[in-house]
Amino acid sequence: MSLDQLLAVIPSGSPDEALVRQLNFDQLPAHVAIIMDGNGRWAAKRHLPRVEGHRAGIDAVRDVVETSARLGIEVLTLYAFSVENWKRPKAEVNTLMLLLKRYIRSELATLLRNNIRFRVIGRHEELAPDVQEELSRGIDQTAGNTGMIFNIALNYGGRSEIIDAARRAMASGIAPANLDEQTFSNFLYTGGQPDPDLLIRTSGEMRVSNFLLWQIAYAEIWVTDTLWPDFRRRDLLEAVIAYQKRDRRYGGIKPSPVAVSAK
Ligand code: FPP
Repeated sequence: MSLDQLLAVIPSGSPDEALVRQLNFDQLPAHVAIIMDGNGRWAAKRHLPRVEGHRAGIDAVRDVVETSARLGIEVLTLYAFSVENWKRPKAEVNTLMLLLKRYIRSELATLLRNNIRFRVIGRHEELAPDVQEELSRGIDQTAGNTGMIFNIALNYGGRSEIIDAARRAMASGIAPANLDEQTFSNFLYTGGQPDPDLLIRTSGEMRVSNFLLWQIAYAEIWVTDTLWPDFRRRDLLEAVIAYQKRDRRYGGIKPSPVAVSAK
């Protein structure tokens, strides 16, 4: 989108405005992927149950989705529930699923207004039928939009995604000799989408946690100590500004500015 689109919702003279003015709109990351971490710690700091951290995390999701769409990011992927997260207490898993359903129901109008295409990546067919129903509603109703793709990673694992892609490739009957990196990537859940240029992780952990393992091969990684429920527009803008200062070399030897080295 544009500087004006963003400034329309930012109080003039605010720190966010100063950050927006530092952005180079010709060098935006096409795809931003976020590992939302720290909900439990956010709650613990306030002597609240862990689920309150997840609940508070929804406000951060709203802020980041809307800001990304206004910025002109092509794809935003949020890691909401991993294949490993089933190991958490049943009550916590149930609350996460409930929050997800509520989020889709309450945000559908905003997604439509912002021309956002909602998608799910992961083994969503293994989720409860009521959750699948709500997800399908969100996916179907936003399918005709033409703006940002918003992927929620649910029951997602990077290794299972690669296995699923390999199975699909085999089932497609493609000759092994014809299977190159480009062709294989089309069988991933994110087939047809650009790979993440920027991977953000909140709450200070230096791990990729089985997230988009194939796709982040050349992503720039930005880690913040901010806990996910506290993450807001300002943090996203800081991440993008930091990204725009990186030299992306893709294994080459000549440092080149982000814009020149775009895929
Ligand atoms: C990690 O924090 C966060 C999650 C496992 C879930 C993230 C989910 C949400 C923000 C809510 C639902 C999302 C959407 C997209 C509607 P943690 O619990 O591992 O935190 P900790 O490391 O501090 O314990």
